[in-house]
Amino acid sequence: MTDSTQNIINETKNLLIETYAPQPVVLTHGEGAYVWDTDGKKYLDFAIGIAVASLGHAPQAVLKTINDQAAKMMICQASYATEPKLCAAKLLTENSCFDRVYFCNSGTESVEAALKCARKWAYDAKGEHCNEIIAFRNSFHGRTYGAASVTEKRMSQPYFGPYIPGVHFATFNDLDSVKALVSENTAAIIVEPIQGEGGLTPATQDFMKGLRALCDAHKIVFILDEVQAGSGRIGTLFAYPQFGIEPDIACVAKGLGAGFPVGAMLAKEEVGRAIVPGTHGTTFGGNPLACAVAATVLTEMLKKGFMENVQKVSAYFVEGLKKIQRDSNKITDIRGMGLMIGVDTTIEIKQFMRALQKNGLLTTQAGSKTLRLTPPLVITPAHAQEALDILEKTLREES
Ligand SMILES: Cc1ncc(COP(=O)(O)O)c(C=O)c1O
Repeated sequence: MTDSTQNIINETKNLLIETYAPQPVVLTHGEGAYVWDTDGKKYLDFAIGIAVASLGHAPQAVLKTINDQAAKMMICQASYATEPKLCAAKLLTENSCFDRVYFCNSGTESVEAALKCARKWAYDAKGEHCNEIIAFRNSFHGRTYGAASVTEKRMSQPYFGPYIPGVHFATFNDLDSVKALVSENTAAIIVEPIQGEGGLTPATQDFMKGLRALCDAHKIVFILDEVQAGSGRIGTLFAYPQFGIEPDIACVAKGLGAGFPVGAMLAKEEVGRAIVPGTHGTTFGGNPLACAVAATVLTEMLKKGFMENVQKVSAYFVEGLKKIQRDSNKITDIRGMGLMIGVDTTIEIKQFMRALQKNGLLTTQAGSKTLRLTPPLVITPAHAQEALDILEKTLREES
C-alpha cells in the first residue's frame, strides 16, 4: 500500500464517526463488474455497495439519464407532479400488484413509511388499540427508529432504547410462532423474503402463504421488505411472485437506483389510501433526478432477456459453488436465490473476506459467519467463473 493510500485511510478514520471498521483499500472508480483502487489494483465486485449497483458500475443508460435530468431539474417541492415521478410510478405499478407508490431515498425510509402506513390503516379500520407489529428473529430492516425497532439486533443494542413499543419477534419460517403472537392488537407483520443481513435464508413458500392467510383472516397488513431481495436481485422485478403471494405493502430501494439513492414503498389501494396529505412526506423523496434514474433502471430491467440472464448466471454460479463444495471440504452451506447468495465455510469470515479481497474479489459479510455474494445483475458466466476461480484458489490457500 502506498503512503498516500494509507494517509487517506488514516485521515478518514480520524474524521468520520466510526460506523464501520475501515477497509484496507481505497476505491477510486468502477466499470461494469470491476472496480479499481488507488494503487491501480483491479477487483471483481461481488459486493456492489451490498446489492446496490444492479446494472454494474457506470452504466451508460443511467449516466445519460443523470446528465440529461440534472441539466433540466434536480429538485422541486414534493407536492408537484413531474414526468419522471409519474413515469417511475407507472413502471412500478404496471409491473406489480400494487396501486400506489411513495418515493423516498433509502431502504430504511421505505420501511418507516410502510410501518406508518400500516399503523394508520389499522387505526382507521380497527381502532387505536391496533398498533402492534410482528417481526422476526434475525431480521434487518434499517437503522432509523421504526426500522430499528422491528430489527432483532435491537436486543443487543439496549443503549438506543426505548424502541417503539408493541413489537413482537417470531421465528422465521415458523408459522406457529407467528400465530402465537397474533392478537386483536396486531396491525402488521413485516418480513424479508430472504433474510439478507441475517445470513441469506430464504422464506419457504409455505411460510409466506401461511402468513398471507393469517393476515387475511385477522385483517393484518402484510409488509414485505424487498429492499435487498427486490429490484431484480432474485431474477424477477419483485421478489413476492416467487413466493406465491401478494403482500399489501412492499419496500424497495438498493438496486432500484443502481447506485443512485432512491427507495419506494408500494401499497395496494386500500392500505395506501390511509396516508393522506399532512400525515407523511419527505423533502428529497420523489425528486425528478432520482425518479428519472429509477425509471431508467426499471426500463433496463424490463428489457427482454434481463431477468433470464440473472437466472442463467445464478444457476451457473451455484453449480460452480457446489462443485467447489464437493472438491473441497471447506464449504459447509450454500444458500440464497438468484444473485443473492450466501456461503458458509470453515474459514473465519473476516479472514476469508480479506484473503478474497487480496485475490481480487470484493464480497460482504452477512450474519456472523456467512460470505454474501451479490454481483451486478448484468454479469456473464465468464464473470461468475472468474469469481469461482478466486473462491477456489482462496479456499485452497486459507485454513
Ligand atoms: C432488507 C433490508 N431492509 C432495509 C434495509 C435498510 O436499507 P438502507 O441501508 O438503504 O437504509 C436493508 C439494508 O441492508 C435491508 O437489507
